[in-house]
Amino acid sequence: MKVLLGGGTGFVGKHLRKLLVDNGYKVTVVSRQPGPDRLTWKDISRDGIPEDVTAVVNVAGENILNPLKRWNESFKQAVRSSRIDTTKLLADAIVNATNKPNVFATISGVAIYMPIHKYGYREVDTSPPYDFLSDLTHDWEIAAKLPESVKTRQVVVRSGVVLGRDGGMIRQIYYPFFFNVGGTITLSGAQWFPWIHVDDITGIFLHAIKNDNVTGVLNGVAPDAITNYEFTKAFAKEMWRLSHLPIPGFVMKGLYGSERAKIILQGQRVIPERTVKSGYEYKYPDIISACQNLAPFFEPKS
Ligand SMILES: NC(=O)c1ccc[n+]([C@@H]2O[C@H](COP(=O)([O-])OP(=O)(O)OC[C@H]3O[C@@H](n4cnc5c(N)ncnc54)[C@H](OP(=O)(O)O)[C@@H]3O)[C@@H](O)[C@H]2O)c1
Repeated sequence: MKVLLGGGTGFVGKHLRKLLVDNGYKVTVVSRQPGPDRLTWKDISRDGIPEDVTAVVNVAGENILNPLKRWNESFKQAVRSSRIDTTKLLADAIVNATNKPNVFATISGVAIYMPIHKYGYREVDTSPPYDFLSDLTHDWEIAAKLPESVKTRQVVVRSGVVLGRDGGMIRQIYYPFFFNVGGTITLSGAQWFPWIHVDDITGIFLHAIKNDNVTGVLNGVAPDAITNYEFTKAFAKEMWRLSHLPIPGFVMKGLYGSERAKIILQGQRVIPERTVKSGYEYKYPDIISACQNLAPFFEPKS
């Protein structure tokens, strides 16, 4: 069983690659850079997907929250094309393949749901595009869509903030918390914080690849819906640290620009109804167990 994995060199992609290899899959990564066990996007564009591939997965995407990148038109274009064009390239390659893979699984984001504080979004819900990020997630999911005549099974995982010690948000906040200068984002931290442990976002992809009954959209969030305040308290407690220095919204807007800062300053309440119904069992269903894994001073034993 061979998986073609776009974005397999990133934070989520590296974890997913390892999980797949541990489960007996052969993985070929698609990257901008050539290397062993890799193809480049140009290779795919020229030659299509390799004949023996049984699953195609895409988790590629330029890091939106890179504070070193200014939020200007060229960066916004890179953010869009790194997700939409790579996904469309793989979708077109599947359409053109003689031997089609069994499954095409792609990542998307919960920014597709408009942050309305009281509303809990299930996978059947959608919001009309309302800003740059929601526009992006809509177009990203459209890019993944295969024509009905193609029998390859499709899964789209709408991911919340992915928590893992070696990447994403935790890597950015670990040292501020370690040095006791961590705190909620915004003074109240009342915004929802849709989150998932990296072992679960990758677990959901493995589940989607393995099980023929899994199709369509799955919300890639933990069942434990919490606010930024609840996350901050749980993380600080497991770090044995204080969380007494909130970061006001204007600081985030100054750092990231107001359009981009929305990712952090606003949040959606997202319910993984189809994910749970599909039979996926979470390793970290609640924020306490997740933070116990993320924050220890000593490396976890497993
Ligand atoms: N991390 C999160 O909290 C989170 C939450 C929701 C959704 N997601 C989505 O999950 C995906 C992976 O996130 P991540 O945290 O693993 O990101 P990451 O660590 O920054 O990795 C990004 C991956 O995308 C590829 N990439 C970056 N820029 C690219 C470009 N301009 N063109 C083509 N490929 C490019 C990189 O591959 P090469 O450098 O090898 O080409 C790398 O493998 C992204 O699409 C992201 O939007 C992540």
